[in-house]
Amino acid sequence: MNLEQLTKTANEMVTDHKGLLAADESTGTIGKRFDNIGVENVENNRRDYRELLFRAERLGEFISGTILYDETIRQSAGDGTSLVALMKGQGIIPGIKVDGGAKDLPGSPGEKVTEGLDGLPGRVEEYVGLGARFAKWRAVITIGEKIPSAQCIHVNAHALGRYAKICQEGGLVPIVEPEVLMDGDHDIDVCDEVTNETLNTVFAELYAQDVALEGMILKPNMIISGLGCPKQAGPDEVAERTVETMRRCVPAAVPGLMFLSGGQTEADATVHLNAINAKFAPQPWKLSYSYGRALQQSALQAWKGDAGNIANAQAALFERARANSQACAGVYTAEAV
Ligand code: 13P
Repeated sequence: MNLEQLTKTANEMVTDHKGLLAADESTGTIGKRFDNIGVENVENNRRDYRELLFRAERLGEFISGTILYDETIRQSAGDGTSLVALMKGQGIIPGIKVDGGAKDLPGSPGEKVTEGLDGLPGRVEEYVGLGARFAKWRAVITIGEKIPSAQCIHVNAHALGRYAKICQEGGLVPIVEPEVLMDGDHDIDVCDEVTNETLNTVFAELYAQDVALEGMILKPNMIISGLGCPKQAGPDEVAERTVETMRRCVPAAVPGLMFLSGGQTEADATVHLNAINAKFAPQPWKLSYSYGRALQQSALQAWKGDAGNIANAQAALFERARANSQACAGVYTAEAV
């Protein structure tokens, strides 16, 4: 393992108030996004959309890296330039989703376990050859009646450890993503409790499996009220509870925490990240973003599959990226966007 190189990449990912664009929607998931804007889910449309994102002018000022899906890392733009080369031209580091998706956890209705370890060393080697420098694996923890089970948290944490070690040995910085879902009517206390349990279990596995903390990134959820909870915690409480839990659970050697948006609105995801940094930075780790929906919603709406709308869609992405970069510095104000 080349820890020096991994550490350098991990630090680059969170440098200068930059964050990640998560554009690694699987073919099924991008189909759901396209359904909302009436675009057919075919390879050319997926390519055109991702090309639009990576060609957004000056995106590299706010975005350090982009997470790609297997199809995308192999695709070329309309003019034949590979999408990876387009990103690199903007100074954006290519990354790759390597998990095989969250599947039903046997014997535990309503819970998921992420698959994809079989053959992973070979795929990591191939992705390094295609230009990737970091990877992502998402585990899903669901809150509900009598769940999450200890079994669900354990098997997902174990798989995250296996994945992270394989990536580091193969030369990719692993993004470790144990996502506690926002779905449900639970309050912020329940999210806090489940996230504590999850992060403690994950870091115990990372330790047990000899993962180098300096050469990884954590992608956690914020501590937040369930989507259906009648009492919604405000940004100050979200920020305070999130930082408190991260301080309790995440070792200082980890270079960066890059939050997922997880279904928050674009505005909430920015305001929450801003409150975190405005009130509590600096912390031992950088506090940044790795947003999918919260960076792309407005861009998708502006695009609607029409080439005449590309400039507007790129402008929408640029504004969200700039706002989130300001939030990394704790200086975001709604008026500035
Ligand atoms: P969201 O920000 O839309 O949750 O996506 C981030 C991601 O990469 C989830 O794995």
